[in-house]
Amino acid sequence: MGSTATTIVIFGASGDLTARKLIPSLYRLDRKGRLPDGVRILGVARSPFNDDSFRAKMEEAIQNFSPEDWNQEAWNRFAQRIGYARGDATQDGGLENLIQRLGEIEGNQVGNRLYYLSVAPQLYPEIVARMGSLGLAPSAQGSASAQGSASAPGWRRLIIEKPFGHNLESARELNIVLRTHFQEDQIYRIDHYLGKETVQNLLVFRFANILFEPLWNSNYIEHVQITVAETVTIGNRADYYDRAGILRDMFQNHLLQLLCLVAMEAPARYAADPLRNEKIKVLDAMPVYSPEEASQKLITGRYQGYLGERGVGPGSRTPTYAALELGIDNWRWRGVPFFLRSGKAMTRRYSEVVIQFRCPPHLMFPLPPGSSMQCNRLAICIQPDEGIHLNFMSKEPDRDGTILRPSDMEFHYRNAFANIRIPEGYERLLQDSLNGDASLFMRSDEIERSWELIEPFLIASEASHAPQPHEYEKGGMGPAAADQFIGRQGRSWISMGLK
Ligand code: BG6
Repeated sequence: MGSTATTIVIFGASGDLTARKLIPSLYRLDRKGRLPDGVRILGVARSPFNDDSFRAKMEEAIQNFSPEDWNQEAWNRFAQRIGYARGDATQDGGLENLIQRLGEIEGNQVGNRLYYLSVAPQLYPEIVARMGSLGLAPSAQGSASAQGSASAPGWRRLIIEKPFGHNLESARELNIVLRTHFQEDQIYRIDHYLGKETVQNLLVFRFANILFEPLWNSNYIEHVQITVAETVTIGNRADYYDRAGILRDMFQNHLLQLLCLVAMEAPARYAADPLRNEKIKVLDAMPVYSPEEASQKLITGRYQGYLGERGVGPGSRTPTYAALELGIDNWRWRGVPFFLRSGKAMTRRYSEVVIQFRCPPHLMFPLPPGSSMQCNRLAICIQPDEGIHLNFMSKEPDRDGTILRPSDMEFHYRNAFANIRIPEGYERLLQDSLNGDASLFMRSDEIERSWELIEPFLIASEASHAPQPHEYEKGGMGPAAADQFIGRQGRSWISMGLK
């Protein structure tokens, strides 16, 4: 990895994300020997830590949030990498400590820097502009615009956490600020779903096998469902959540990204731009509905007790559940509905993509009166029981006549890769950003197009005349209205991995 010093600078280092995800992920990468030689990690925040007290807090964080990885020796080594530069990135002079520490680390050499913005999203523009004015942003090898490669020694990269904007306009504004100070290939917009092994496996499943690809189109696929169900409520996140709601929190990013991976064409190479070019083609082929059309394709829900959560505004109409129908107007997908649903406070935590194939054109076997056949289904289970289920009809043995019964062919990570623990998405994403691989990060055009697609649904659910979200029981599977919504089309929600 060369001798150039590499520093990871985490803005917002006293926050939850740093303790729960970032430091434990970096620690695990260090244990696997995957961090660049001599990498340093500098936390930046207003809280009054010094190196020692910040390390102590991070030690506790790893013990709490990643106890199975705890190893005193490994920690002692890793802790040497960590430092703290107290500062307020929103104040003039607030980053002096950071600049001084970077100077000490890099000496008169040109260092690599990975900046991680893990602060309140409303601070992104201000902090990025300040980084620009202090000369922290462009590569040390020259001005950002003069740089041919964001990977040359002395690189600068910026990771941006979600939410990326609140709507299309604010996302566009943020992109403009970012690109004033960084080149597009220096900007790493995170969607942690893309860091999940099973999400990446969707690409491998589709494009490293030939089996399903000939069937992967409207001739053979009747519809697609994508479900991300969570058991958690909004907890103590009302401040953010009540303004965001499920459509911004889960659909604009995670669910649309999953849809892109299911629907895209095969890129020629596994590299950032070929991959993202194919995803944006999917988003471009999706019609942007009018708010009236969107209101016909959307059901929102709110778990019982939401209005009583601490911090939720009086009269809030924020949905904690949504189900919606989208389409893709291209040759492969025209006429195939994509049903997306996600909610908090549901029965089980699970995420899954279900491909419902069409039925055979003619069935030679007599079915018992009143019964119907279950046509082939394929479920890709993202979490928690990572795997793939293929459902097909089989003959029940030793019966009088031919009795058909659905059976499952199952692949489970826990069996196939029994000795390998599935890593946290952040681990993969941090490693990729250190390696300069932006394949699993979102480009500005993807973000903006996703907002454009989701905005009519936001308008439909937030307009003053919009219906209140349907209440649903905590621990249920969402409002009955969502079952009726999909039922009106003669379909029903499928949960294949939930067995
Ligand atoms: C985050 C959302 O992006 O994803 C949270 O802000 C949500 O509200 C979380 O709980 C779900 O992620 P995961 O990895 O637990 O499915």
